[in-house]
Amino acid sequence: MNDTVAHPAPQASANCTSDEYRTLYRRSIEEPDSFWLEQAQRLDWFTAPGKAGEWSYDPVDIAWYADGTLNLCHNAVDRHAASQPDATAFIFEPDDPDAPGRTLSYRELQAETVRMANALKALGVTKGDRVTIYMPMIVEGAVAMLACARIGAVHSVIFGGFSPESIAGRLKDCDSRFVVTADGGTRGAKPIPFKANVDAALAMDGVEVDGVLLVRHTGDDVPVVDGRDRWLHNLASDDDCPCEDMAAEDPLFILYTSGSTGKPKGVLHTTGGYGVWAAMTFQYTFDYQPGEVFWCSADIGWVTGHSYVTYGPLLNGGTSVIFEGVPNYPDHGRFWDVIDRHEVSLFYTAPTAIRALMREGDHHVTSRDLSSLRVLGTVGEPINPEAWRWYHEVVGSGRCPIVDTWWQTETGGHMITTLPYAHDMKPGSAGRPFFGVRPLLVDNEGESLEGAVSGNLCIEASWPGQARTVYGDHDRFIEAYFSTFPGRYFTGDGCRRDEDGYYWITGRVDDVINVSGHRMGTAEVESALVLHPKVAEAAVVGYPHDIKGQGIYCYVTLMEGVEPSNELYTDLRQQVRKEIGPVATPDHLHFTAGLPKTRSGKIMRRILRKIAENDYGSLGDTSTLADPSLVDALIEGRQNR
Ligand code: WTA
Repeated sequence: MNDTVAHPAPQASANCTSDEYRTLYRRSIEEPDSFWLEQAQRLDWFTAPGKAGEWSYDPVDIAWYADGTLNLCHNAVDRHAASQPDATAFIFEPDDPDAPGRTLSYRELQAETVRMANALKALGVTKGDRVTIYMPMIVEGAVAMLACARIGAVHSVIFGGFSPESIAGRLKDCDSRFVVTADGGTRGAKPIPFKANVDAALAMDGVEVDGVLLVRHTGDDVPVVDGRDRWLHNLASDDDCPCEDMAAEDPLFILYTSGSTGKPKGVLHTTGGYGVWAAMTFQYTFDYQPGEVFWCSADIGWVTGHSYVTYGPLLNGGTSVIFEGVPNYPDHGRFWDVIDRHEVSLFYTAPTAIRALMREGDHHVTSRDLSSLRVLGTVGEPINPEAWRWYHEVVGSGRCPIVDTWWQTETGGHMITTLPYAHDMKPGSAGRPFFGVRPLLVDNEGESLEGAVSGNLCIEASWPGQARTVYGDHDRFIEAYFSTFPGRYFTGDGCRRDEDGYYWITGRVDDVINVSGHRMGTAEVESALVLHPKVAEAAVVGYPHDIKGQGIYCYVTLMEGVEPSNELYTDLRQQVRKEIGPVATPDHLHFTAGLPKTRSGKIMRRILRKIAENDYGSLGDTSTLADPSLVDALIEGRQNR
């Protein structure tokens, strides 16, 4: 599928034309120091940096703008509150379309951020402390992030779809002594017990915090623990709260993400480089023009919400929509209503949402006025050309360029994408490298591959938005990203480069799966399953799923004498929801008498993946298996599903 869709005629005001891209890209690679020092001027610095990137991938030590100092809250909020106080910073759209929404000007956002920052200080938070944020998609979630940045605290946001066990693990891992949460939330009219989940996490062994800051949202009656929990509205004050002077390499946030092994990693981003990257990618990728309304439908619990709900738009003085709800409530036109209601120009969502909405028919789209739309974006997983075309033709009426943005939690912001009006588009391809990004495809031995070819996607040189380490475990950072192909950053993705230099991401080549654009470690799901006393062994793989992109397929062997049952099936799904969260609920459990292993006892995951994919023709050599007959039984089990 190599059809090209020409970019629409360049707008006179476009941030970048094809020629400008070529020139700027070349400069970004050939003269990185001057290029990146120039880009740093997007931000206000207390002390301007005199140095750009100082990094090495062997040993792994990455710094950008190290001699500069700044504050990202000042950059995202205060400087715009001074220059355009009445411009809209956030538009809040509640879950219930009939409930009152909110808009906040930059002046109001500054006041709210100062109030939250003062409340955090009153709770005892000081510079360098880790603050865990577990919030619904409401303005206060973003305000909590900004308030942390203001006082130099390091935020660790946890997505609302994670369970108390997951919260507890993350609190402990970064020794976070403070939590910001809300009484409750609603998504698609379903209540989500934010405070109760935090309480459950805090009741677990080894978890201890100094304070919980509570935001009133639903008005639910929730227990308040004396001496630990404080309502924001009781603690906040309008006192002066200056922005801390932060070194560019001071930590800004930790965000937990899944890898192929072990527990989720606390990926650490720092202040200056991340700020430049979020600001710059936002402006170029979406061709942002001042005054436009931008809406990224991701939750702030994911990196997409960090960079493109909060930091990217605000660092550009833009207007960002915060949507509490879901695409299918009260009906499948909800997204399009929000765009219509708030005259959204730039819209950014995940392929899984597009596929789900496409299935419901065009009338949900065509009955709304989407003429405000100008640029459409996707993120999180490869988009199938059929969904791409529907997005382009039905949602964007064929007028709006689509940017398919490839990036990761670890990259801080966009890495490969076409730019609106600058590049032709190929449905299914992310496109070309962003400024300063040097993608490299290598074979399994690490040999670099030239021309039109498929391989493992690495990045050759550091960029300002790159994660610096795994919190508290630099060795794990090195092991996860720099050891497979020494001297290079390995993304974990497979990729094809075509004859025009476009990149086509083919999916993860490690044991990470991508479910509805959410990254999941198969090892985490396996650990959750084997905690059940009736489970002997589990192997989890991804399989193609029409809507989610990938579904979670679990092979489970039971303890001697235990028979599979519907009850156990339900129990095990529940077990995973409890250990990780609803976000990781298995799609299918396959009870089996055994798992295919080599004679040395290694599980043959390749075979399990093929069987889950219903692809039996290419199982490869099964003769090395300890028990080859198992494969037939597994196939039969799959077909009887
Ligand atoms: C996948 C999300 C294809 C990829 C920003 C990557 C994509 C992982 C795309 C990171 C895309 C993200 N096309 N695949 N446009 N964007 N991915 O850390 O496998 O949650 O490695 O960051 O999502 O997921 P993460």
